[in-house]
Amino acid sequence: MKGKGYTSSISYDSRLYREDIAGSIAHVKMLVMQGILSSSDADKIVSGLELISREIAEGIFPWREDLEDIHMNVEARLNEIIGSPAGKMHTARSRNDQVATDLRLYVKSAIDYTLMGIGKLQNSILDQAERHINVVMPGYTHLQRAQPVLLAHYLLAYFEMLERDKHRLQEAYIRADVLPLGSGALAGSPYPLDRNFVAKELGFSRVSANSMDAVSDRDFVLDYMYSSSVIMTHLSRLAEEMVLWSSEEFGFVRMGDLYSTGSSIMPQKRNPDFAELGRGKSGRVYGHLFGFFTTLKGLPLTYNRDLQEDKEGLFDSVDTVVSTLDAFSGMLNDISFDTDKMLKATEKGYMLATDLADYLVSRDLPFREAYGVVKVLIAYAQEANKSFDQLSLAEYQQFSPLFDIEVLKINLTSSLNSRNVPGGTAPSKVKSELRKARKKCRLPLESATNLGLKAYNHNRK
Ligand code: ARG
Repeated sequence: MKGKGYTSSISYDSRLYREDIAGSIAHVKMLVMQGILSSSDADKIVSGLELISREIAEGIFPWREDLEDIHMNVEARLNEIIGSPAGKMHTARSRNDQVATDLRLYVKSAIDYTLMGIGKLQNSILDQAERHINVVMPGYTHLQRAQPVLLAHYLLAYFEMLERDKHRLQEAYIRADVLPLGSGALAGSPYPLDRNFVAKELGFSRVSANSMDAVSDRDFVLDYMYSSSVIMTHLSRLAEEMVLWSSEEFGFVRMGDLYSTGSSIMPQKRNPDFAELGRGKSGRVYGHLFGFFTTLKGLPLTYNRDLQEDKEGLFDSVDTVVSTLDAFSGMLNDISFDTDKMLKATEKGYMLATDLADYLVSRDLPFREAYGVVKVLIAYAQEANKSFDQLSLAEYQQFSPLFDIEVLKINLTSSLNSRNVPGGTAPSKVKSELRKARKKCRLPLESATNLGLKAYNHNRK
């Protein structure tokens, strides 16, 4: 690539136009208040910027690659529209504090949209949990049938993961919520700026304390990239289970038609493409995090052009995580659970073994010994090809005199009910967690599918 093409960022940073224009308008208003700019010049600048904003939104803005980035494109167009007062807009400002401001505004919006996506998926999870409140399934460790649990308990595990994701993003928001504008190129500004006014205008809760840090800090980008990486990790785990569960081997779920596709050569197949793609896309989000870490490592203060590399990975992370949350919400709404198959699966594999051991413990046998008794009992039952409920009391008593008639009452229901510690799978506990979860989960304001992801069609105010 020749000349300026290599250094140009306009092909992707045009996406920051709303933030850039909002930042300029706030800056210009403040310059007037501080007696640095006349109000007649400011009026021209502001109406010119508003026109530019409409031109961009309507797709008729004359983008110029030779002008490199969004800041220069807007300023040059302003100059075409209003003439020389346009040159006063950049008084007491540098592109270094400008771009940092734009990007912080962008990240704050991106966090809001990601939080909406999380809320939407959480609601889908809660809907399914409520719909299947009495369904029992095998819980697994090491992917081996371990103990029976409620399907709702399983689903609420994902609700909890997403709840942590929400908190991580909310913390990231607090760190992004700092105004860099007024830091100048690196050393501050010789003009009597009112930085707090600009912060207020743009919705920042505080101003940066060190100009050199403010123009070079991109931790807030890493924070978003890390938070979205954790979200993708969680979604990839859900995806993996849905892929497994939709296989004939498990047969626990059937994907809705919209969320699965047939094979081009094997007509019997229903491939869980959405789940697989969501799982696969985690890779690019981690990649952006590590890529940008590498960009930042060892950079000297303050602004270096390397920092321009902060954008594409961030934008792609936002697009990926927001669209995946949305897709997974739809996928989950459309999944049907084969509850009979789940129940059947709990009948095999001696999943009540720990309940039998706990029963012996309640008869004062030390747990280790109880474990040993049940182990031998299982070997016997396997040999006789019997499940626990097919054993007679006499058979139980061959293994321990502590077994009495009560042992025959151990079943799925007793097992679930017994796990009634806070956080356990007892139906009463799961129901109360479900109620609490509903309260925490405010409804998303609008569907993430309406975002026009690439164009990022949002209004901040
Ligand atoms: N396009 C640049 C970026 O994204 C804007 C800041 C340019 N600053 C400079 N001193 N060249 O980082």
